[in-house]
Amino acid sequence: MAEASPALLSALREVSEEIDRQFDALLPVPDDARANLYKAMRHAAIGGGKRLRPLLVSATARLFGVDRVCIARTGTAIEAIHVYSLIHDDLPAMDDDDMRRGKPTVHRVFDEATAILAGDCLHALAFEILAEDETHGDPFVRVELIGALAHASGPSGMAGGQMMDLEAEKSSFDLATVTRLQAMKTGALIACAVEMGAILGRVPVEGRTGLRGYARDVGLAFQIADDLLDAEGDEALAGKKLRKDGDAGKETFLSLLGVDRAREQAHLLVDQAIEHLHQYGPEADVLRDIARYTLERDQ
Ligand code: IPE
Ligand code: IPE
Ligand code: MG
Ligand code: MG
Ligand code: MG
Repeated sequence: MAEASPALLSALREVSEEIDRQFDALLPVPDDARANLYKAMRHAAIGGGKRLRPLLVSATARLFGVDRVCIARTGTAIEAIHVYSLIHDDLPAMDDDDMRRGKPTVHRVFDEATAILAGDCLHALAFEILAEDETHGDPFVRVELIGALAHASGPSGMAGGQMMDLEAEKSSFDLATVTRLQAMKTGALIACAVEMGAILGRVPVEGRTGLRGYARDVGLAFQIADDLLDAEGDEALAGKKLRKDGDAGKETFLSLLGVDRAREQAHLLVDQAIEHLHQYGPEADVLRDIARYTLERDQ
């Protein structure tokens, strides 16, 4: 993360430590036959990843002076969904990967059945966290958070995008279809992180237009960067196997646009994302830094 600004680096560090603390407290290993299930969840959830989604919750919610505990719990909930999606994405039935976040994948350390169940449990944990009073004193806010995260995780969001991504290996999708796929697979959770920050901040729907535009553009730029990393990145830095998309013959932004146009497109999206924040002053600088970081990252 050499390229991140000092302000972003310190925000990333703070959020990462907080998320590790939260998962550590939420997932004590029981002294019974479920021990491996908890160990598998801890293996995947603690100590790794950029924590981009909790950071987006935090950077957005802080614009509106939201309480630290509400931010930490909401960030942990969305990270739990993200971690579950990674555990399942790496399974032999999906991408069949051995490394994730610089460590062996859950099904390699434990077994496939445990990995499936660890994903299931993190999925459920996300909504359990959001349903609890400590996440927000107002039940209407909690229900809105739950609805937003459910929508972003399901068939209209991440899981739907994953299904389309599997189809992308078999069909020749055009640019509009790949854009829709990516907006669901990766964009939906990223957009949801910003939306949850706005929900915590009690921003009325009509006041969220700028933030939603920002989130949509950051989400697409982020996935283009993931595809560029897949083609050109360093496996040791990325902490996962690369050169997968080309080998799978998968239609991505890169296969359709080529490296140069894909990178150009990603830069345009980042500039556009930053423009969407024009109504905010320096208090939104972390959001601006995150937008730039999506392209400068090496992991
Ligand atoms: C990887 O997400 C999978 C995609 C959605 C592209 P991240 O790049 O955010 O992975 P971590 O959380 O940092 O490991
Ligand atoms: C996965 O996309 C996106 C998820 C919803 C988990 P990829 O398959 O491209 O992610 P990596 O490259 O394995 O991290
Ligand atoms: Mg995948
Ligand atoms: Mg994958
Ligand atoms: Mg990828």
